[in-house]
Amino acid sequence: MSDLQALREKYLAQIEAAEDEAAVEKVRIAALGKKGEISLKMRTLGKMSPEERRTVGAALNALRDEIDAAIRARREALADAALAKRLEKEWLDVTLPARPRPAGTVHPVSQVTEEIVAIFAELGFSVAEGPQVESDWYNFDALNIPPHHPARQEFDTFYMHRAEGDDRPPHVLRTHTSPVQIRAMEAHGAPIRIIAPGRVYRSDYDQTHTPMFHQVEGLAIDRDISMANLKWTLEEFCRAFFEVDHVELRFRASHFPFTEPSAEVDIRCSWEGGQLKVGEGDDWMEILGSGMVHPKVLEAGGIDPNEWQGFAFGLGIDRLAMLKYGIPDLRSFFESDLRWLKHYGFAALDIPTLHGGLGR
Ligand code: DAH
Repeated sequence: MSDLQALREKYLAQIEAAEDEAAVEKVRIAALGKKGEISLKMRTLGKMSPEERRTVGAALNALRDEIDAAIRARREALADAALAKRLEKEWLDVTLPARPRPAGTVHPVSQVTEEIVAIFAELGFSVAEGPQVESDWYNFDALNIPPHHPARQEFDTFYMHRAEGDDRPPHVLRTHTSPVQIRAMEAHGAPIRIIAPGRVYRSDYDQTHTPMFHQVEGLAIDRDISMANLKWTLEEFCRAFFEVDHVELRFRASHFPFTEPSAEVDIRCSWEGGQLKVGEGDDWMEILGSGMVHPKVLEAGGIDPNEWQGFAFGLGIDRLAMLKYGIPDLRSFFESDLRWLKHYGFAALDIPTLHGGLGR
């Protein structure tokens, strides 16, 4: 028995001292493996007398179970310790702010387009669209600009290439958003209230002109629409867009083939200290073209000019963006310079509000 007692102490001590899984396994093999010390002892039971076998057998079984349990316990303790050690190293502070990710910005043209759409939506205008490659009928003829009209030359039009022998009518890169007036009239008839933001193209390049730029067209047709409605709508728009309570617009008689009468609209402003302020000062700045839709244009859009009349206007989005956000050179809009985009761009969540005045 004292023999077993010695074995017990030896193995329990070895198990306790085992520092890793491999060491524990070594002890297990030495004690309980096929040729382990305790296993070999059990094999000697056969040679014993029945009484001896009973007492020694029971003691050996108990010893084997105890060693087995001690090995399991040690394994578990080692696994726990290893996990605890890993957890100590691998913890994270979930309250840390996230790593900054490179975020893009909203281009001033997109921002201003959204602002314009939001303001006119509040005034009851919906958004209409048309193609950028347009037939010359929509871009010119339907807008009362016949083939040899001088206005066609003024537009510096890009014509689409035609293969030799292809005599389909010519197509152009639209020179303005006005053709969307015709498309919207055809699609919806009267009454109608739409704005049409989009890209337009002219062969022109300097500080305030680029071959591609952006316009918004406006069109409102009803039975009794007058210049007064045009004036109110544009004033309300400018007040909201420039975020000033007092705007003063000046309607200057002008000429566009698609409107009669036609007016160019200037806004009162000051350039004091090189900074533009809208609504004060002694300067006037032209911001858009407008007028009452010409009867021939209504007809081209399939609307009876004896029954309906309306106003239209067209303004340059890029121009308004330059003015509102103090951006000096139009060409920089389209150079994709990341430093410029970071400086003049907007955060994605800067959702345009109903800039002052409209949201009552
Ligand atoms: N389409 C004209 C242009 O690009 C702008 C314009 C003037 C549009 C008068 C209109 C308008 O709807 O009534 O120069």
